[in-house]
Amino acid sequence: MGTAMGQRHGKVVVEIDTPPSGQAAGSAELPRSVAEPAGRADAFLNEYVRSCELPPNLIEAILYSLLGPGKRARPLLAWHSFAAVALPGRDPADCLPAAGACELIHAFSLVHDDLPGLDNDDLRRGRPTLHKKTSEAMAVLAGDCMLTLAFQLLTERVRDAGLAASLCRELALGTNGMIAGQVYDTLGGFTGDLSDSQKLQLIHRNKTGMLIRASCRMGAMCGGADRSALEAITRYAEDMGLMFQIVDDLLDVTQTTSHLGKKAGKDLDAGKLTYPGVLGVHESRDVVRRLHEDSVGTLRPFGARAEPLRQLAEYMAHRTR
Ligand code: IPE
Ligand code: IPE
Ligand code: MG
Ligand code: MG
Ligand code: MG
Repeated sequence: MGTAMGQRHGKVVVEIDTPPSGQAAGSAELPRSVAEPAGRADAFLNEYVRSCELPPNLIEAILYSLLGPGKRARPLLAWHSFAAVALPGRDPADCLPAAGACELIHAFSLVHDDLPGLDNDDLRRGRPTLHKKTSEAMAVLAGDCMLTLAFQLLTERVRDAGLAASLCRELALGTNGMIAGQVYDTLGGFTGDLSDSQKLQLIHRNKTGMLIRASCRMGAMCGGADRSALEAITRYAEDMGLMFQIVDDLLDVTQTTSHLGKKAGKDLDAGKLTYPGVLGVHESRDVVRRLHEDSVGTLRPFGARAEPLRQLAEYMAHRTR
């Protein structure tokens, strides 16, 4: 193990004494058939954003952030959650508005997360962050606009008004969870006497887990999931969401800036509460393994139809960026 963790002067210290390594062995590639809907979501979002009556510089800023080279994890989770629960013959493209709305919220969260008042980052997806590319004012406003566009999209493009309302409620819960998590992460505000690991769970389950939960649930809702299917998808999403952020924390201490396309080692510099900081790299990887197993375990009732969700969990556990 090339990474040692310790506490010095109340600060978590990470020492890397071997070249940064990736995650434990496993598949860090997605089969083409699983990844393909990401392109559908991008095309849908591109068309939708360009159709909105907004200033051209705002549209350009939004598209720069929204369609930059990211993993599109949330649209893929929505799409494949739909496919796992829907009756044969249903078209997963029916969930594109939901998938796109989740990616709009995600892109908004990244733009604001990078602002000087939050993580103050210059690099995102291998390119300048939006406030560096344009200005802080534009980054604040483009983030605001992506937040509202997500709900506008659901109300305009989901034909069933009852479903649109349920999706808006679900997305609002996910977004407020993400914002609450960002507050805990950046400003504190915990109530009660919580240990560091209790605080960490609260931060991660909210800042990242809640939008992943919403993405899976919204896809499943579009697919007409019954109560028990929605509960199984929700448990999958909750385990996956926490796992996703633990992997993000691990990559911050095990990968390089050039590989990640965002600054490595920044959590430690910023004094963030992270899984490797509190549990160490080995134990954090054990937690990832357990959450991965638990998440795919909940998919048993869906049989082969949930294979893409299993492959997504495998990829999210073993990704290196
Ligand atoms: C980064 O999200 C921020 C977290 C919530 C961990 P992603 O790892 O999904 O970022 P992109 O969309 O692929 O760039
Ligand atoms: C961000 O977590 C989670 C969001 C809600 C955007 P991080 O701050 O760890 O994400 P990165 O590492 O900047 O992508
Ligand atoms: Mg952050
Ligand atoms: Mg950040
Ligand atoms: Mg991070």
